Amino acid sequence: MPRDELLDPTPWPDEQSVDLAEESLDDSQLRPRTMDDFVGQRELKERLGIILEAARGRQQAADHLLFAGPPGLGKTTLAGIVANELGAHLHITSGPAIERSGDLASILTKLERGDVLFIDEIHRLPRVVEEVLYPAMEDLQLDVMLGKGPAARSIRFDLEPFTLVGATTRTGLITGPLRDRFGFDFRLDYYDIDDLERIVSRAAGVIGVDIDRPGAAEIAGRSRGTPRIANRLLRRVRDFAEVRGDGSIDRATAADGLAVFGIDERGLDKVDRILLGNLCERFGGGPVGLSTLAISVGEPAETVEEVIEPFLIQQGLLKRTSRGRVATVAAWRHLGLAPPADAGDVPEVTTLFDG
Ligand SMILES: Nc1ncnc2c1ncn2[C@@H]1O[C@H](COP(=O)(O)OP(=O)(O)OP(=O)(O)O)[C@@H](O)[C@H]1O
Ligand SMILES: [Mg+2]
Repeated sequence: MPRDELLDPTPWPDEQSVDLAEESLDDSQLRPRTMDDFVGQRELKERLGIILEAARGRQQAADHLLFAGPPGLGKTTLAGIVANELGAHLHITSGPAIERSGDLASILTKLERGDVLFIDEIHRLPRVVEEVLYPAMEDLQLDVMLGKGPAARSIRFDLEPFTLVGATTRTGLITGPLRDRFGFDFRLDYYDIDDLERIVSRAAGVIGVDIDRPGAAEIAGRSRGTPRIANRLLRRVRDFAEVRGDGSIDRATAADGLAVFGIDERGLDKVDRILLGNLCERFGGGPVGLSTLAISVGEPAETVEEVIEPFLIQQGLLKRTSRGRVATVAAWRHLGLAPPADAGDVPEVTTLFDG
């Protein structure tokens, strides 16, 4: 599976007002549109629900919201839900798409009262653009410079009240001043098996495939805590069930289908196993630097760091240390290898995905 797709799966155009109901892509078909359809993340849902209901009650734009967490956990989905629950238009853009402050100015001046502006990968906004965003978020003011040199002057525009929804896979890269301007910052966590099972069952209903609970549980258990992966594995198992079975999915069909596609009982795929295999066998279990490890699996360092590693760390298979990446005893065992006496014996330094 192309791992970059997890980092940058957004099939949406750079900036436009999108009516989510009109999307026809497979993934977006599965995207929950209302808070009720959004499975799991109980605390987040409660808090977000209160914020949105209060805003609705006051008939005002909701406060600016930031969603942070690893890829595929539902940040983009939540942006759509926020707009939907507020009955507001959703405008979608992303940090790297806004190159100059003029780009942002033209987006902001198009916003109508109560609109939701979603900026994906907001940690990648250029600094000069970020500085235009501050007064817009705080005071609904937009300062535009006209002309150059001594004749330059700045014009101030008033903006309509709007809600900015930011998403980031890297909270550590959000500057303090930007983070402070959000009314709340939500952190998404990996989903537990029960939630993933419900996500699989719900998705099966949406795409019209017959699955029983043990079948859904089998897929859930191999989904790396990630709804996007759960949905993708469901589609592969559906293919397998249609070609090799009667089209319906029980535990055995799910297990056999996932085995055919190289997903093991822990949800590790081929790239994960190659990475751990290299770490153990070529680098003696580490410590080894991120870039060396990334080259050994032929993936960009960014993909290794943001997509592959967080799950391996969460599973207790890999550690980030000040001297590099280290395989744990569990990693050696998972690969069926005998761990050396000092396996994993280096203190950990960083948290899940801010490293
Ligand atoms: N809580 C949920 N309940 C049901 N389905 C979900 C949930 N969260 C995510 N999904 C499904 O997973 C898919 C991926 O979610 P989404 O695109 O919102 O992730 P993301 O956090 O924006 O990822 P990225 O950081 O890669 O942009 C969605 O299409 C949706 O179908
Ligand atoms: Mg997204």
